[in-house]
Amino acid sequence: MRLSLRAIPAALALAALPSVITAQVAVKPFTAPAWAFPLLNPTGPVPPLDSIVLERVPNSALSFTRKQVNNGFDVVDWFPAQHPRMPSPVQYGMKPDGRACALCHLPDGQGRPENGTLAGLPVEYIVRQVRAFRNETRLSASPEFPTGPMHRVAKGFTSDDDIRAAARYYSRLRLTRRNVVREVREVPKTRIAGMLYAHDGEGTEPLAGRLIEVPESLERHELKDPWVTYITYVPVGSKARGRRIASSGPAGIATACTTCHGPQLLGVGEIPPIAGRSPTNILRQLINFRTRARKDSTALPMYAVTDALTLDDMVALAAYVGSLPPSPLKRK
Ligand code: HEC
Ligand code: HEC
Repeated sequence: MRLSLRAIPAALALAALPSVITAQVAVKPFTAPAWAFPLLNPTGPVPPLDSIVLERVPNSALSFTRKQVNNGFDVVDWFPAQHPRMPSPVQYGMKPDGRACALCHLPDGQGRPENGTLAGLPVEYIVRQVRAFRNETRLSASPEFPTGPMHRVAKGFTSDDDIRAAARYYSRLRLTRRNVVREVREVPKTRIAGMLYAHDGEGTEPLAGRLIEVPESLERHELKDPWVTYITYVPVGSKARGRRIASSGPAGIATACTTCHGPQLLGVGEIPPIAGRSPTNILRQLINFRTRARKDSTALPMYAVTDALTLDDMVALAAYVGSLPPSPLKRK
């Protein structure tokens, strides 16, 4: 059966779609590249976090210690006037394992490259993804990274009402631009700093087909400043190549990103918006669909799409999609 794309209604009936689409593309072998999942596990004893020195971030009148910044059960909020009041699961979490959503995804939902944006995602999508983490039908192509924290958290929240309250809160917030995408041949030297890359000293090295995202300031990233900018280095020509694939589809129009995610990739119904989000996260999710690490039933429409993509295509798409305006009101 051929799929007529124009026939897909805006509020796509997710359950009906997969069997039609998945049959179309032969799956080629694919190996998830280790560089897309940087992880540095500290060896030896971790020094206690400082509980005396008060830290600051630009444009906030507040100050907190590093111990406070890393408290998963009462999250610090550098800019409380910039978002509505957080519901309890977002700010305080649920002890012992349900650390507060805002610890990682931040109070304003902008998230970080290693966990992802929640601002503006559809309520039902958030609820379903947390359930998928809890049931471990959503994994990561890299065994240790980065779903582990989210699995523990999802299992730590025993009440679906809490997840729904968090989902409602985040879905009302708006993603604003936090990233710059640069096409380069040589990338400044980096090191792995926790779950992401950071600039490291002088000099450059060949980018060699990779996508490398770094915070402009590791210090501000570690203090969970929601306004820190991330720079993503991608191969020359990536954005143009990504634009072509997004609008024509890697395997015909049925697989064009715009067909399901909307003309500006800002989402349709329960299909998530992807424009302007962290390129690292977009790339990882494409790899996760491609390797079937995301195996929730609603992930099926993405299989035919990612089966037709090479790694270079995925990098190009992440660069292009990540560089788009994240909101219809903030067009470039
Ligand atoms: C300890 C850190 C941490 C906390 C706390 C946390 N998350 Fe996450 N979350 C992550 C990581 C890491 C990922 C990325 C997993 C991946 O993509 O493999 C993630 C991903 C997600 C996603 C998927 C986003 C997408 O675009 O697909 C959703 C939804 C989500 N989290 C919701 C929540 C909610 C709701 C809470 C609070 C109830 C929460 N998270 C608390 C670390 C965390
Ligand atoms: C046939 C419909 C369809 C097409 C075509 C499609 N997507 Fe998707 N996409 C979905 C659905 C549905 C989901 C949600 C999957 C889930 O619930 O697990 C999704 C999820 C995603 C996600 C994960 C977002 C997140 O928050 O984690 C990314 C990234 C993505 N798509 C990128 C793309 C790109 C890039 C293209 C084009 C190359 C594309 N999609 C084409 C239906 C589609």
